[in-house]
Amino acid sequence: MIVSNRVAVPSRKAGASAGGLAVALNDVLRARGGLWFGWSGRIGAEQDDAVLVERGNVTYAVCDLSHEDYEEYYNGFANRTLWPLLHYRLDLTEFARRDLAGYRRVNAYFADLLLRHVRPDDVLWLHDYHLIPLAEALRARGLHNRIGYFQHIPWPSPDLFLALPNHAEIARALCACDLVGFQTERDAHNFGRYLVEEFGASACEGRRMSVAGRELRIGVYPVGIDRLGYARTAARAGRSAFIREVRESLSDRTMLIGVDRLDYSKGLTQRLDAFERVLAVAPEWRGRLTFLQITPKSRSDIPEYAAMQRALGETAGRINGLYGEANWTPIRYVNRSYTRGELAGLYRLAKVGVVTPLRDGMNLVAKEYVAAQDPEDPGVLVLSRFAGAAAVLDGALLVNPYDIDGTASAIRQALAMSGDERRWRWNAMWSRLAETDIGGWAGRFLGDLDGLNGVPAPSDDS
Ligand code: G6P
Repeated sequence: MIVSNRVAVPSRKAGASAGGLAVALNDVLRARGGLWFGWSGRIGAEQDDAVLVERGNVTYAVCDLSHEDYEEYYNGFANRTLWPLLHYRLDLTEFARRDLAGYRRVNAYFADLLLRHVRPDDVLWLHDYHLIPLAEALRARGLHNRIGYFQHIPWPSPDLFLALPNHAEIARALCACDLVGFQTERDAHNFGRYLVEEFGASACEGRRMSVAGRELRIGVYPVGIDRLGYARTAARAGRSAFIREVRESLSDRTMLIGVDRLDYSKGLTQRLDAFERVLAVAPEWRGRLTFLQITPKSRSDIPEYAAMQRALGETAGRINGLYGEANWTPIRYVNRSYTRGELAGLYRLAKVGVVTPLRDGMNLVAKEYVAAQDPEDPGVLVLSRFAGAAAVLDGALLVNPYDIDGTASAIRQALAMSGDERRWRWNAMWSRLAETDIGGWAGRFLGDLDGLNGVPAPSDDS
């Protein structure tokens, strides 16, 4: 059973706003089958049981949230407390006891609904920061099944995490799991260090820790993509009418691309500033570049996100006003989402992929950009060193996204790069993508969870 706040029940138009988690889990479930439980995305009355939707070998079990739940749990503790804190943004972290109570309440609600569907030999795989207290809530209701948790977003150093007033409660709740997985060595190390320093946990061999009388295993499982499937989609999309139209609209200009949810963690203002710097210091590129920034709106009820929407629109407008011509707009800033196929085709068309988050758990756009390229004539990836993907994609031009001049230089280097260098960099990244292929990611996590001592292994029909 997979549990996450956001459940992506497939529709004909899977938009880019879904975020990395939904993309990753849909790929896993399509391959393995199972049940996926979570929020329906709707606001209504809390339910006595989840609504089940069957699609092929996957059952989606979804429930509504009340207005208070949505405000306190989703907009509140998950996205105004944990999200900024875990992305190293103490300056944006808000803490309200009411939100914490809502966060606990919704996790208890999920636990009650889940219990109706869990069979004795089911393995539960929980996902992301919305659900940190869920394993503990399930254990309190007498559930002994094996439970794993995967953190899709970063886990900061104890120095930052200690700023959370109820840090011990949150961290202890995760210890009700059998296995806790992270995207990078750094995240896993930060969590382990917290347990040692704050709870006196003993670090044992192979990241098995003994915390509060329970054994907990910590692991690193960088999430990936189905690189071959994605490459095929991109090659097909490259020949579509949609991409032909976009290509014609460029009139031989070189396209750069960025694709991100509208979120302050993505470094969008700094990215547009870096593009402006390219136009300022390298006038030979004026009139010859088109930066396509696709940014579906996200979490718009949260004030920091609404403020960011305004700021980014202003920045794009200012740069277009300053450098644009009657026949040329430097930045195409688009707030809508595109299907997976359309995006794959756009990645293939773009000569530079600019993925410059200030902090990101992994960032699958970086991996998709690489997988979408034409191996004979690949584009160049400019990638933030603060994205988890940087640990794998060492053929990218790695940048510090806070350094506007440095990012602008990397973009210029990408634009001027020879075909030979582009090909060897791309080949290096393409082979590394195989290490974190999406099926392998789920297989490794679930294999480790199955292999733990002391808990019965699931039977074949689970
Ligand atoms: C990130 C998070 C996911 C989340 C997604 C979209 O990828 O790791 O848990 O679902 O953003 O955000 P949203 O608030 O729309 O679910």
